[in-house]
Amino acid sequence: MSTDPDPKTASRKLYIKTYGCQMNVYDSTRMADVLAPLGYRTTDEPSEADLVILNTCHIREKAEDKVFSDLGRMRKEQMQRPEKPLLIAVGGCVAQAAGEEIIHRAPYVDMVFGPQSYHKLPEMITKAIRGQGGQVELDFEANAKFDALPEESIPQGKSAFLAVQEGCDKFCTFCVVPYTRGKEYSRSVDELITEAHRLVDQGSIEITLLGQNVNAYHGTGPDGKDWNLARLISRIAKINGLERIRYTTSHPRDMDEDLISVHGDEPKLMPYLHLPIQSGSDRILKLMNRKHSSDAYLDTIDRLRRVRPDIALSSDFIVGFPGETDKDFSDTLRLVESVGYAQAYSFKYSPRPGTPAATEEVQIDESVKDDRLQQLQALLVRQQTAFNQSSVGKTLPVLFDREGKIPGQVLGKSPYLQSVHVRDAAHLMNHLVEVEITDAFQNSITGIIKGKIRDLPKAA
Ligand code: 5AD
Ligand code: SF4
Repeated sequence: MSTDPDPKTASRKLYIKTYGCQMNVYDSTRMADVLAPLGYRTTDEPSEADLVILNTCHIREKAEDKVFSDLGRMRKEQMQRPEKPLLIAVGGCVAQAAGEEIIHRAPYVDMVFGPQSYHKLPEMITKAIRGQGGQVELDFEANAKFDALPEESIPQGKSAFLAVQEGCDKFCTFCVVPYTRGKEYSRSVDELITEAHRLVDQGSIEITLLGQNVNAYHGTGPDGKDWNLARLISRIAKINGLERIRYTTSHPRDMDEDLISVHGDEPKLMPYLHLPIQSGSDRILKLMNRKHSSDAYLDTIDRLRRVRPDIALSSDFIVGFPGETDKDFSDTLRLVESVGYAQAYSFKYSPRPGTPAATEEVQIDESVKDDRLQQLQALLVRQQTAFNQSSVGKTLPVLFDREGKIPGQVLGKSPYLQSVHVRDAAHLMNHLVEVEITDAFQNSITGIIKGKIRDLPKAA
């Protein structure tokens, strides 16, 4: 998040640290929108801040531990500068799961609020400034939050997030999301079209539609009927000035025929899909309550490739789920071999309190998990490198939207979500540019500029 020092209104500074998924990144932008009318402007420096928000993630134990060590650092900051009070707030999924316990463990925390409660921040802050510490807001109604969020928003840049759906009813046995984000809720089509238009008017040319279970989207359309994600994508694609659409994260069970077809029919929909399978073993998928088999997953991929042969695929994997045998793990390796991923995320199973798998008797040794993770990651790295190498010689449209570490270097994304970096191209920042790919690495590709695709509208 960047600084915006308007001397007339920038009387207070807000530092937000975002952990975890893209939904949290979106939520953090909306928290800043909620707080802008109170005079809060974002800063990248906690030392300048009047208010710190830790927007937390509860998905694995490591993510949660980080929050408490960061809280310790914020406490130090608070103690070091008694002349400039610092309010500390904990939001997001750890807040939802741990609630009051955070205040017990860290009594200097002024506010704890869940992912569906951040529209109440102004009220909470006013109370905290009046000295009412230790407030906890854990409402669970996503619709109440979306109804209360301001229409105004701070521009997100060329590539923007738009939350279309929230929560999950799938209850995979390892996952905390249904408990921290609540049940599935889809925003209405009208509301989303309005927000998408605003993003484009503010200069965004790429929108990523977000949801914990985004392809389960079933919002009310202008005709009063339920619209699915495919229909929403086709409608959003009609917005002039919008060049690219993505969506994440999907569940294999909800990849319906319409959604598969739209990958073949809608050129603005980028040829990349994150479709987590978690394991290649049907026995483990059952224990995970994933509600699909490995064959059904492979069949979905075949159908996607039939309509969009160049589609790049990504997934999440968990190794060391309770009861996972060497044979189950080798099924996962075999599945990965047969798909050929462009990239993927893999994790060691982390028992989460309150989830069914956490109390399974046969937990897997850390050393076995380490070993399996290493093997899986080695294979995924080979596939990712091979995918990147297959881009060499191709000319790809790249949206450059960040500066690189080297002066003059710009970073962007290919249609397949590969990171692309090019030197001496500062003038092409915020442009969609044709790049002939000349070199590929494990995590990125690079090339020669062939030219701007067209001049894009200026960001507001
Ligand atoms: N342990 C390890 N990984 C997990 N994920 C979710 N819950 C757990 C857990 N308890 C992973 C899944 C999911 C991704 C967002 O995080 O792979 O798709
Ligand atoms: Fe968690 Fe995704 Fe399963 Fe929902 S579908 S419970 S968010 S892993």
